[in-house]
Amino acid sequence: MEAGSEAPRLIVWLAIVFFGSLTCASSEFHLVGGKDGWKSGVNYTVWAANQSFHVGDWLLFRFDKFAFDILEVNKTSYDKCNGQDFITNITRGGRDVFQLNESRPYFFICSKGYCFNGMKLAINVEELPSPAPSPSTNGVFPSNSLNRLCIRSLLLIITLPWFFLMKMY
Ligand SMILES: *[C@@H]1O[C@H](CO)[C@@H](O)[C@H](O)[C@H]1NC(C)=O
Ligand SMILES: *[C@@H]1O[C@H](CO)[C@@H](O)[C@H](O)[C@H]1NC(C)=O
Ligand SMILES: *[C@@H]1O[C@H](CO)[C@@H](O)[C@H](O)[C@H]1NC(C)=O
Ligand SMILES: *[C@@H]1O[C@H](CO)[C@@H](O)[C@H](O)[C@H]1NC(C)=O
Ligand SMILES: *[C@@H]1O[C@H](CO)[C@@H](O)[C@H](O)[C@H]1NC(C)=O
Repeated sequence: MEAGSEAPRLIVWLAIVFFGSLTCASSEFHLVGGKDGWKSGVNYTVWAANQSFHVGDWLLFRFDKFAFDILEVNKTSYDKCNGQDFITNITRGGRDVFQLNESRPYFFICSKGYCFNGMKLAINVEELPSPAPSPSTNGVFPSNSLNRLCIRSLLLIITLPWFFLMKMY
């Protein structure tokens, strides 16, 4: 086999590794409230103003699970501090994560009364400044596509070297 024939495949592999790591690295963790975590008396509007949220990012809530909880609600419930018809109950052990899968506004409240005191969070999740979404999706990045892309890239990164070795020996 000529040595030259490996070059295109090597380039493809490097491109995949580069693109894959770019895609995977672009998921960020946001520790809600910074070192304050999720508790009463923190202005989360101020905290959120200094962050940018993108599809695929994670929110990490750290809180006292005996005192507080964390619910995803819609805007009406956010404004009224109403935890009755919540969308998702994120409360688990007090170090709970929530993935922002879609590009839309998200609203979170503590339903234990502290919401009226400002223990509520509204954020807007934006699409990643992505390289040319395919026309069939109408310019909208389908939810979860980043995750799938990330996993697929990782699989390729893992399997491609084997493909190389098999061809060479
Ligand atoms: C915003 O975040 C940057 C970088 O983490 C930090 O240096 C800055 O102090 C923050 N500003 C506010 C108002 O929290
Ligand atoms: C939020 O949910 C409540 C209860 O299900 C509903 O009455 C209200 O119209 C919803 N608000 C929005 C903005 O979707
Ligand atoms: C949310 O989930 C936690 C833990 O499973 C539970 O203790 C709590 O009662 C739930 N809250 C609501 C409003 O359903
Ligand atoms: C986000 O997508 C992941 C992967 O498909 C899924 O497991 C998870 O439940 C989703 N999270 C939310 C909050 O919808
Ligand atoms: C949080 O800070 C913003 C900007 O300073 C202010 O408009 C808002 O009223 C504050 N919220 C609470 C609950 O104090």
